[in-house]
Formats: sequence, C-alpha cells, structure tokens
Amino acid sequence: MARNSLFKRLFKRPRRDDSNRASTDWATTERLRRFVRDHDVPGYFAIHDMLVWDALLEFQEREGIRGHMLEIGVLKGRSALFSSLFAGPEDHCWFLDVMMDPEFRRVMDARLQKNAHFLEHSSFDVGEDPDAHFTGIGDFRWIHIDGQHTATAVVNDLTIADRLLAPKGLVTLDDFLSPTWPHVAAGVFRFLRESPKRLELVLTAYNKGYLARREAVAYYQRFLRAELFAHFKSRNFDDFTMIESNLLDANDGLHCLGVGHRFEDRVYDVFDYRVGPEPRPE
Ligand SMILES: C[S@@+](CC[C@H](N)C(=O)[O-])C[C@H]1O[C@@H](n2cnc3c(N)ncnc32)[C@H](O)[C@@H]1O
Repeated sequence: MARNSLFKRLFKRPRRDDSNRASTDWATTERLRRFVRDHDVPGYFAIHDMLVWDALLEFQEREGIRGHMLEIGVLKGRSALFSSLFAGPEDHCWFLDVMMDPEFRRVMDARLQKNAHFLEHSSFDVGEDPDAHFTGIGDFRWIHIDGQHTATAVVNDLTIADRLLAPKGLVTLDDFLSPTWPHVAAGVFRFLRESPKRLELVLTAYNKGYLARREAVAYYQRFLRAELFAHFKSRNFDDFTMIESNLLDANDGLHCLGVGHRFEDRVYDVFDYRVGPEPRPE
C-alpha cells in the first residue's frame, strides 16, 4: 500500500473510540458534562485517558500551576478540546498539525479568541527552531504529543516539549507502550538516553505516557498515589490498578508509576523489589 494511502486510512477517517461511550456516568462535573454536550467530536482519546487528564489538570488548577498548552497532532481536536477546557484566561493554547480542521479552528477561535494559536506545519519544521514559532518559552504546563508515531518524530516532538516546558509542567504522549505503535516507545527511550536529565517518566496510564522535569516527578507521584483512585471513584469509574515496580530502577531515571485496567482485586500494589539486589541508595 502506498505510504500516502496508509496515512489517510490511519488518520483521515477518525473512528469513535467506543470504550465506555455508551454511558456518560463518568460525567460528574460541570466540565465533563460540558465536554459531552459541546465538544464530543470523533478522534482518538478514550474515556480512561480523559479521566487521568481530568485528575492531573484539576490538580494543576488546585495547586495554582498555570501556563500555556500545546498539542502536536490535533486531527479534529478531540483531546485538544478537552485540555483547553482547563485553560485559564492568561493561558495560551497552541495547536500544531500539518492540516488544521476548519471546524476545530472555528470553535477554538470563538472560545479562546486571542489565546488560540494555530500552527499549520509539520512538527519537523517547528523542531528546527521552536523559538521562532512560540512565545512563552519555558511557560508551558501541558503539552500533548500525538503527531507522527515514528521514533524520529517522537524525539523531535519531545525536543520541542523540552524547550517549552515549565518547571512544573507535564508532557503527555499518546500510544506510549501501545503494541501497535512500537516506535513511539523507541522514540521516548531514545530521547531519555540521548538527553539525560531533561525529562523523566512520571506515569504510564492506559494509552499514554506522562513526563515531567526531574524536580517535579515526586511531586506529581505523591498526588497520583494519594488521590488518583479516589478521583476515578468520584467519576463512577473503577477500572483502575496502580503498580509500583520501580525501586531497583529509580537511579536510572525510571521512577515511573503504572496505571492500567483492574488487575485482580488490587487498587495499588508494589511489586518486584522483594527479590533482587537491594535498591541502590539515591
Ligand atoms: C492520531 S491523530 C491525533 C488525534 C487527536 N489528538 C485526537 O484527540 O483525536 C494524529 C495527527 O497528527 C498529525 N500529524 C502527523 N504527522 C505530523 C507532523 N509531523 N507534524 C504535525 N502533525 C502531524 C496528523 O495530521 C493527525 O491529525
């Protein structure tokens, strides 16, 4: 199959992700109801991931962490419409895609007005000189990477994110560890190896990975351990297990927590450190 037609099949005819869509019992806040009512467009952003974002974005709001947002790979705007519901009046939202959907652009222009910025480019062009395309370098607190799923593109997009990210910002990455997109994981680990100590993995949850500055990793993980499950329950959702199996690897920059579908009857468990060498001291 020609490359172009494969690309079209993958990205130009979005199908709905039907997991849990039949019910909207999870829409227990005004913001979630607003998303269902006004912005529930087709795309690639499942309910589980949406509820993790809901928790993290609400946490940022509660903690007074403000700043700009960027999405690389917007399509019809399903995930971008969701994250932008958390943008404050001073926060600018940037949307980068090789082709910007006109309806998405119209909705965002109407809602965010001068705070909406559309970059109709390849992220490879932007990666050559991010400073030429953005204002507010170093003030971005939410960056979602969902563009081309090759390792080369992921390294490029993480390099842009690293340039823009605020000290307490988060980078989220679609299809991280998905068996259908192995090059996304390859790109992340290549970036982590080639640019050590810039970003670290905080969390992998369902279909996404989350990265932050090293100094912010423990901060987000304290919140995730203490509150993520309660947050899910408050949204009538309990398809959740959190695993920590990171103790032996912490010195390699892998402090990452894992969240996935319910595993046996466990909500939270610590694995693996019981056997093997003693964890190395920090
Ligand atoms: C999986 S879709 C994004 C899904 C979207 N986030 C959602 O919520 O439904 C991937 C998007 O990335 C865009 N894309 C692919 N390669 C890109 C690149 N190099 N730079 C910018 N955008 C790219 C495609 O045009 C497509 O719209």
